[in-house]
Parts: sequence; C-alpha cells; structure tokens
Amino acid sequence: MASGSEAAFHQEASPAAIAALRQDMPALANKVYFNYGGQGPLPRASLQAMVESWQRIQALGPFAKPVVPYVEGLILSLRQALADLCGVAPQRLAFTENVTSGCVLPLWGLPWRPGDQLLISHGEHPGVVATCHEIARREQLQVKTFSVQDCSKAAQVLERLDAALQPRTCLVVLSHLLWTTGAAMPIAAVGRRLREHVNQPWLLVDGAQSAGAVPLQEAVAAADLYAFTGHKWFCGPEGLGAMVLSQRLLEVGTPTMIGWRGLAPGTDQPLRLHGDARRYEIATSCYPLMAGLLQSLHSLATVGDSQQRLAIIREQSGHLWHGLRQLPGVETLLPEPPPGGLVSFRVKDHSPQQVVNFLTERGLVLRSFEKPTACVRACCHVTTELVEGQRLVAEIASLVTN
Ligand SMILES: Cc1ncc(COP(=O)(O)O)c(C=O)c1O
Repeated sequence: MASGSEAAFHQEASPAAIAALRQDMPALANKVYFNYGGQGPLPRASLQAMVESWQRIQALGPFAKPVVPYVEGLILSLRQALADLCGVAPQRLAFTENVTSGCVLPLWGLPWRPGDQLLISHGEHPGVVATCHEIARREQLQVKTFSVQDCSKAAQVLERLDAALQPRTCLVVLSHLLWTTGAAMPIAAVGRRLREHVNQPWLLVDGAQSAGAVPLQEAVAAADLYAFTGHKWFCGPEGLGAMVLSQRLLEVGTPTMIGWRGLAPGTDQPLRLHGDARRYEIATSCYPLMAGLLQSLHSLATVGDSQQRLAIIREQSGHLWHGLRQLPGVETLLPEPPPGGLVSFRVKDHSPQQVVNFLTERGLVLRSFEKPTACVRACCHVTTELVEGQRLVAEIASLVTN
C-alpha cells in the first residue's frame, strides 16, 4: 500500500508506466474514454486494495478493538498523502464524501452579516450555486455573479473580479479549472486581491477538475476552502473527497453537521470539538474507500509527480485541441492549448447533445453541456493515447463533412 508522500513515489515518467496504468483500468479496455472529469476509471489495484481492506476489517472485527489501529492507520496515511499533495499540514484537511459537500458544508458555519454579498463566478457548479442562494435567503445576503466563461487569461479574470467586488463582498466562489471551458483561474492572484480588500472576503475554490490533474499547492495556499474529490482525476472510488481549510477559517468557522468524529477525545464536555479540521468530519465512513484512494494515488504516482503528469496530460489535450481546431465548423472554447486536460468545443449545426450521441454510437465517451456554456467536453488524462485523440478528431471530421 502507498505511504502517501508524492516525493516517495517520484519516478521518471515513462511510456511503460503509463501503459501499465492503462492496462490496469478495465474501463479503458472496451471504449474510448474522455470523461475523466465526470469520473476517473478505477485501477484494478485500487479495487483489490478495497476488497482486501474490507476483508481485513471483517477478519479483525468488524467492530472490535483490533480494528481500531488498522482504521486509524488508514485515515492517517490518506490524510498525510492528500495534505502533501496540497502542500499543507494534515491538521488542515478534513475528509468529505465528494466535492460538493466540501464546498458547501463549511459555508453554513461562517459568520454572515445581513447585507453582505456572495460573489460567485458564472462558471460554478449548480450545487454550490444553489447553496449560496439558500444561505443568502436565510441570512439576508445578496448573491452576485461575475462572468469568466469567456476568459482564458489571468488578467481578464482579475479585471472581471475587480469590477464585481463590492465593499460588502464577503465570499468569492471560483473553480480552479472551469468545468466547462477548462480554463485555469488565477487563484493565487485572486487570493492576493481579496487580502487587499477592505472586507477580506473568504475564497472558496472548487477543485473538482484540478485535483489529480494539475499541481494544487499554490491554489490551496490562496484559498480559505479548497474542496475536491477522489473519484475524478485521482481515479479513486466514488464517495470519498476532502477539503482544506485555511487557518483563519478554522478559527472563525464552526461546523454545522457535528458528529462523534469531530469531537476531541478525553473530555466530558458534550461539545468539545477537535482543534483542527477533523471537527468537520462527522461519523462512521466507508474506510475501505480510503485504501482504494491511497492505491489510486500510488498508481498515478508510478507515472510521475503531479508536475510530470500535467506535462503528459497537456501534451494529449494540446494534440486534441490542435486537431479539432483545424476542422472547418469546429470551434474550441479556449483560444490556446488547454492548461489542463479539458478540451471543450462546439460543432456547427449540431447541438452538443447530438454530437455526444453520435460519438456514443461509435464507442467514444464524452459529455455535453447546455449551461452555462453550450459545448462538448473531452477530458484527456495521463492514460489518454494519441490515437484516441486522433480517432475523436476523425469522427468529428466525418460528422461535419456528412
Ligand atoms: C466543478 C465541479 N464541481 C462540483 C462537481 C460535483 O462533484 P461531486 O459530485 O463530487 O460533488 C463537479 C462534477 O462534475 C464539478 O465538475
């Protein structure tokens, strides 16, 4: 099983390691898969690690003293591994079930003042958007959006942000990589802007499309709340994610969902919470998922560290982007090669859903969006092969010429 630290896994990226990882993903054997941003394929080794973890828990317990050190060890290893990837102390990381719960649960426990403004980018996921609206309704706040869907340059995003910020802005919500266009948002620069702001707004960053695809440390350092999941670009099992909380959020925020796992041990006081991010963890979880995610981190690390993996991802997404752009009637949403693995495009005279249906019939798995930006999205990961991108370009070419 993996020990956790990225440095411990560091190896030179090699085609053999990529081929071995691909071989270990049954989901890639019978289709051309471009939906990593929806869900990453689970390596066989991760599935095996979960089965073994379940078996071990049953052999030791399931609810018996000998299980405790095993489960505690698992929790400790994964917390350390994810904290290392985020460049933070493990005390700042709490486990969640998915991206959305990491984005929204801490928001309920922040001190809002009536009349404050929540500022959400126009490219955010519906779950966090809906939550902001409900918090605003209950707490008498304003919700405002700022448009970033057409931005690919940091300066453009900062200009839009500056125009939208108000003295009463108390929260900014911005994804690290937009889930529709795939553009990277300048999170570090946004964080600097917000620290200069009179109201010091909280910065919530949705890391759904970045965690496992791009290095996280700089963006995590700028965010008050950085939420991600294991089941997309980390290729782990569904049902396990994490959030990183800033020191100031840990000092000011209070968890709304409180359970026994959030309580500090060794006290008779009924409401004595952990002093660190564990206060946001609630109760019994499916611990074998942790063994699965640890193994997925290890499997990805056999290809290289996050910087090396991003270089491989960008090579594939860049080839695809160039290939699509040369087709008449095809428009890529980004004007330059993607900063991550997402390649979004439109095909003239065909709705995104029609394009996806056409590709599905031919064994290619992608997804379409109607809102906030109508497009088709292809995701390239380290396991994407050049021929898969070429196949996609050829299929789209046949669609536009027929
Ligand atoms: C940007 C973004 N945020 C949130 C989500 C929701 O993820 P989850 O189901 O893990 O909460 C997604 C899923 O695609 C996403 O792309």
